Amino acid sequence: APPGVYQRATETALYVRSMLPNNLQNPKVAIVCGSGLGGLVDTIEPDPKVELAYGIIPNFPQSTVQGHAGKFVFGLIGPQKTPIALLVGRAHFYEGHTMDLVTFATRVCKVLGVGTIIVTNAAGGLNQDYAVGDIVCLNDHLNLAGLVGIHPLRGPNVDEFGVRFPPLSDAYDLDLRKRAHKAWKDLGLDKHKRRLHEGVYAFVAGPTYETRAECRMLRTLGADVVGMSTIPEIVVARHSGIRVLAFSLVTNSAVLEAGPRGDDPTIQAMNGAELTEHLSKGKANHEEVLEAGREAAKDMQALVKQILSGLYAS
Ligand code: 6GU
Repeated sequence: APPGVYQRATETALYVRSMLPNNLQNPKVAIVCGSGLGGLVDTIEPDPKVELAYGIIPNFPQSTVQGHAGKFVFGLIGPQKTPIALLVGRAHFYEGHTMDLVTFATRVCKVLGVGTIIVTNAAGGLNQDYAVGDIVCLNDHLNLAGLVGIHPLRGPNVDEFGVRFPPLSDAYDLDLRKRAHKAWKDLGLDKHKRRLHEGVYAFVAGPTYETRAECRMLRTLGADVVGMSTIPEIVVARHSGIRVLAFSLVTNSAVLEAGPRGDDPTIQAMNGAELTEHLSKGKANHEEVLEAGREAAKDMQALVKQILSGLYAS
């Protein structure tokens, strides 16, 4: 990260605190809400709940995607009235933001004293055992952009946050994952067909969805889901010692079969409409992603609430 990021995060945290009543100034948990997953906002207490549009927060990146309107929300959740911070909408690398900006909110959370971060996203399913609408608790990742040098910790190390060479071999907190599966069971959500899996997330820069060959490559490499967010935030959170729990909502299945061949006689015999129909099943599209998000969002919210009520029950 560039020099000065600690100072900027501190400045932003001071501003945010200045806008909050005393009982909301020390969030224990931050929850990053991905595409269509911001409904948690309506389940936290307005005690009072405070919403800060990203646009008024100094140093915050400005979101540019439809369906990702950004705000930082502070409130109390569950019977223990745990103070939490919600990040509704996030900055993505594909929007043109630097990795520094993509992870800035995570650093502000650290300065605010957050100890646990729950990150959610919409992702494409590569594991053929997953259905659209299933939820995946991440237990590892492939930071593809990071491995080739697009990495949020590249540059002088910011010692105030963490060490130069942070290990990521146990980035996904086992205790939190166990709690997630227990919460899922306790809620009985398996019954209405939706399942909770554990799997590996492949981070790609986007903004294009993957080709068929890229989907097969990612599956071969060991990925269960693929998406364009989350991993930079997780890397920065782990650098500064924040515990991490992450969920992907499977909003579409990546296509692993090869596409139609121009030298296939069956394909050659098809007319335009037949070909269009034949090809449509292979395409990921943003509408489908948002729609699956709406459907499953309530279960994901219930899951997060249930995990939190267990976390701070004493
Ligand atoms: Cl199929 N790919 C990527 N990269 N991101 C996604 C997705 C697919 N589906 C939802 N988000």
